[in-house]
Amino acid sequence: MVNGNTGNSGTQEVDGRSEPGHSATVSMSALIEAALSRRAFLGVTVAGACAALMEGTGRAGELVRCTHPTGLFQFRNVPASQTDAVVVPEGYVAEVLYRWGDPINGVGPAFRPDASNSAEEQNRQAGMGHDGMEFFAIPGVDPNARGLLSVNHEYTDQILLFTDGVIGDRPPAPMPLEKVHKSMASHGISVVEIARGADGRWAVADSPKARRITADTPVAIAGPATELIGTATRGTVNNCSAGRTPWGTYLTCEENFQGVFGTNDPTWEPSAEDQRYGLQKLGFSYTIGEDKVPAFRWWEHDPRFDLARPDNDAVRFGYVVEIDPQDPASTPVKRTALGRIRHENAELTLATDGRVVVYMGDDQAGEFIYKFISRESYDPARKELHGVTSRGGLLDDGTLYVARLSEDGTGRWLALVPGENGIPAGNPAAISVMTRQAADAVGATPMDRPEWLAVHPQTNEVYVSLTNHSSRETTDPGNPRTKNIFGHILRWRETGDDPGALEFDWQIFILAGNPAHPEPTNHGNVAGDAFGCPDGLKFDSSGVLWIQTDMSSSVLGKPGYAELGNNMMLAADPVSGEVRRFLTGPVGCEVTGIAFTPDRKTMFVNIQHPGEPDDDLSDPSNPEEISSWPDGKGFGRPRSATVVVRKLDGGVVGS
Ligand code: FEO
Ligand code: CA
Ligand code: CA
Repeated sequence: MVNGNTGNSGTQEVDGRSEPGHSATVSMSALIEAALSRRAFLGVTVAGACAALMEGTGRAGELVRCTHPTGLFQFRNVPASQTDAVVVPEGYVAEVLYRWGDPINGVGPAFRPDASNSAEEQNRQAGMGHDGMEFFAIPGVDPNARGLLSVNHEYTDQILLFTDGVIGDRPPAPMPLEKVHKSMASHGISVVEIARGADGRWAVADSPKARRITADTPVAIAGPATELIGTATRGTVNNCSAGRTPWGTYLTCEENFQGVFGTNDPTWEPSAEDQRYGLQKLGFSYTIGEDKVPAFRWWEHDPRFDLARPDNDAVRFGYVVEIDPQDPASTPVKRTALGRIRHENAELTLATDGRVVVYMGDDQAGEFIYKFISRESYDPARKELHGVTSRGGLLDDGTLYVARLSEDGTGRWLALVPGENGIPAGNPAAISVMTRQAADAVGATPMDRPEWLAVHPQTNEVYVSLTNHSSRETTDPGNPRTKNIFGHILRWRETGDDPGALEFDWQIFILAGNPAHPEPTNHGNVAGDAFGCPDGLKFDSSGVLWIQTDMSSSVLGKPGYAELGNNMMLAADPVSGEVRRFLTGPVGCEVTGIAFTPDRKTMFVNIQHPGEPDDDLSDPSNPEEISSWPDGKGFGRPRSATVVVRKLDGGVVGS
């Protein structure tokens, strides 16, 4: 879920909301049949090549799909569901761990079901809109029984956040300062210590490591952009998905930051640079009839968010932020070398020579897929290159690339470097701030909203969720549907299976869809349980690809979508292509965020925005109208939450 808005031209969607967007700069003519026939061609080799691939002898770049189950997962699937609950397979249990408003120390302040907690209390409680997360071991502690969970709080439903909502706070009266402070405190990140009890249940523990990072926390800036934007700011916002480094830090990704910027200055008009990033006068707004009510209006009390101020902070958001989960006093650092886009997640792996590779998507219709490669190699013995205190280290010094897919199934990574690939000579710092414009210049391939990327732990194949794009004007083999309402998953193999390579072979892995949809192009080709709008994507260490969906609340349960039920989580076998539904979420939610303990006997999943209405307009007088998950009817209001999923027999999740 997101708060997005203006791009350049055409109509696009940002997490379900339609928005003007930028048109394709590179397009190739091809239709869905082309993509399917290519898959069929590869399928010719299936039986033999499948065995060869699993033995490691498959031809480099050849992506194959077996026709038989491989036994990678064993659970019995759950049916599509429209019930207001988290449903998991027989033999499993789903337990709520950490809800919006729960205290980070497990003790207090307690959540008030009428949303009357103060901003000061909210600073010590879970934020709203749980999204990406990672689990971290604590040195010297059994990581299968205790650890740290870093959780993103992407976005707030400004109506559910307050007892009386915000719709009544109409301009010209300013938004009350206390509401602005509480809204800022509901964004950002939680780090909480969690522990498993003797009964197997997990709970938040009282811990000196627990902390909240919010839209007001001091944050450092590092990397090339510092020359233009300085070395410090406050806050991180719209933290969508995440990643982790081999040196134990958390990477949180700023996505739809444009929604919290705006201005009351009637003379302000967006520049071309502003438009390219969707910055607009009212930020994210609720539409009430003909009226638009800005949902955030932080700019009325904090000039950093006022677009009419020449020193506003818009150029200081849209980054990947590194956090040390072990040190609550540490300062988060924005790593500008990874570019300024609407970051989804940051999937980090190592090249064959040890250089750090970070795959990243820019989630807007027609935006691009990126990859960062560090200049130096990861060396655990050279601590000065790593961690949040480093400057000029692995995540600050390297080259950012953007993907171009060719019709023949090959692809190239194009460097975003001044004087190369059509980028004018100039200051490399500008590329770290105006990354989208640099990618436009090199002719990257516009994609159908890149969400998460995931790297297969054994083969290094890379998978990306392309969640949907319902108004593409021209197609290409990698984005083969003009009205791609259900999205697809694309995968590639870098040359030599080396993440550091600059060429790759790609293939569509799955076209998502609803086989009961009246239009055949929306049926998809899922081998197993149907789904739409893939978003969260993560491999577990055994090679199961976990898929989470984010069908917009505006379409959930509607004709053409109803058969798919609520948003869900599925397991996919990357070799056989089999997809099996593992979990369904409550009404109006998005299922997102995946983490495991090392033994994979505990899985953590996030449920975001349960109860979101189809028009985004929650009703403060009836907050349980759509959903009362997780607390049940009469408690107060639906709450985003982290859920623990485990097997009742103590086994590995998925086994
Ligand atoms: Fe925050 Fe694109 O999902
Ligand atoms: Ca999404
Ligand atoms: Ca997402």
